[in-house]
Amino acid sequence: MRHLLSAFTGRRVIGLLAAALLCTAGPSGLSGPAAAQNAAPGDAADRDPGSASAAGAPAPRLPDGLAATPPMGFNNWNSTQCRAEFNESMVKSVADIFVAKGLKDAGYQYVNLDDCWALPQRDAAGKLVPDPRRFPNGIKALADYVHSKGLKFGIYTSAGVKTCSATGFPGALHHEKSDAQQFAAWGVDYLKYDNCNNLGLDAEQRYITMRDALKATGRPIVYGLCEWGQNRPWEWAADVGHLWRTTGDISDRWSSMLSILKRNLPLAPYAGPGHWNDPDMLEVGNGGMTDTEYRSHFSLWAMMAAPLLIGTDLRTASPATYEIVSNREIIALDQDALGKQGTVLSSDGGRWVIVKQLRDGDRAVALFNETDRAQAITTTATAAGLPAAPTYRLRDLWSHKQRNTHGEISATVPAHGTAVYRVSTVRHG
Ligand code: GLA
Repeated sequence: MRHLLSAFTGRRVIGLLAAALLCTAGPSGLSGPAAAQNAAPGDAADRDPGSASAAGAPAPRLPDGLAATPPMGFNNWNSTQCRAEFNESMVKSVADIFVAKGLKDAGYQYVNLDDCWALPQRDAAGKLVPDPRRFPNGIKALADYVHSKGLKFGIYTSAGVKTCSATGFPGALHHEKSDAQQFAAWGVDYLKYDNCNNLGLDAEQRYITMRDALKATGRPIVYGLCEWGQNRPWEWAADVGHLWRTTGDISDRWSSMLSILKRNLPLAPYAGPGHWNDPDMLEVGNGGMTDTEYRSHFSLWAMMAAPLLIGTDLRTASPATYEIVSNREIIALDQDALGKQGTVLSSDGGRWVIVKQLRDGDRAVALFNETDRAQAITTTATAAGLPAAPTYRLRDLWSHKQRNTHGEISATVPAHGTAVYRVSTVRHG
């Protein structure tokens, strides 16, 4: 993680330089979220997102129809970072496992590479060169393999002169057209576009340049903005990319997951089909949280209609990890076609009630216990937005059992646990 610290320090310096430039340029000197150029990571997300609506509704989404539901798949970063085990053999195994273990059938589709797949230098023609030790057959052959399994393939670069790794891999700034064409020629279906080493240039413009370069290839490519929420992308990126990171990097700790959750929840109004808030990739299975905490992480990401990118090495994942990421009833909440991000009904004393409206009229209700001891958490079907009715069906999406109630939705939830119900009105007669 040392490179992240240096990246953030670098960004702070760049931010200050940018701020100085902006002051000289005056208020109309540059378009885009100028104030955010000067923000430290996370500052933007601390502000009340509600104030943004006053400034205008989010821009219309991209008309390409991609990512109608939040992208699901795998990305190696949270398990390998840049270590040597990030290589062709690992990525092919993930594709094999997606098929063999039913994850593909459960909806996981994208097999994505993160940073460190390239050599530090471009070739004489300015093209990116895959690291031959990691990817001896190149990226095209790997993408072909992933496609042969009926899956899709994703790649990573940065909207800066170098990516975030301290090793210094080439970024796409000022190479957007050529890099986008190279990705398209390789068969890339998804691009994660990071923000390191950006020279302080306007973020919105940098991300738009790559959007246009991707579009010019003619290949449908899901486009994920990864500028950590620094420039409040939820306000301007709905017609730039299909998803945007809302926070700094997740780590495999309860406190990290919790703080990201709290930053991402208020951004619900900005999410919808084709334009999603991205609270970062899953840590489920990486060992730094308990299975109860991982169940909460997975449930809450699904309630927030977040992208579900598995971030653990599936070759060594435990049965509990598979059980969590394969829970189709939880996945169905995430993938619900209405595309509503869940909202907070209450959070008194760390007893959270989060509600997600579903296309068939049902509501998903998560009772999440942030505290360190078991808690009774209670709400009602009408408070969750269902019409008044004599009877409701509560389906528990972790025990897969259901019962009827007259309206009360209640559970004793273990410390750091989450009970998730799908609640429907029972029709009589
Ligand atoms: C940034 C991103 C991470 C990861 C690393 C790779 O920190 O936010 O998700 O892609 O770069 O270096």
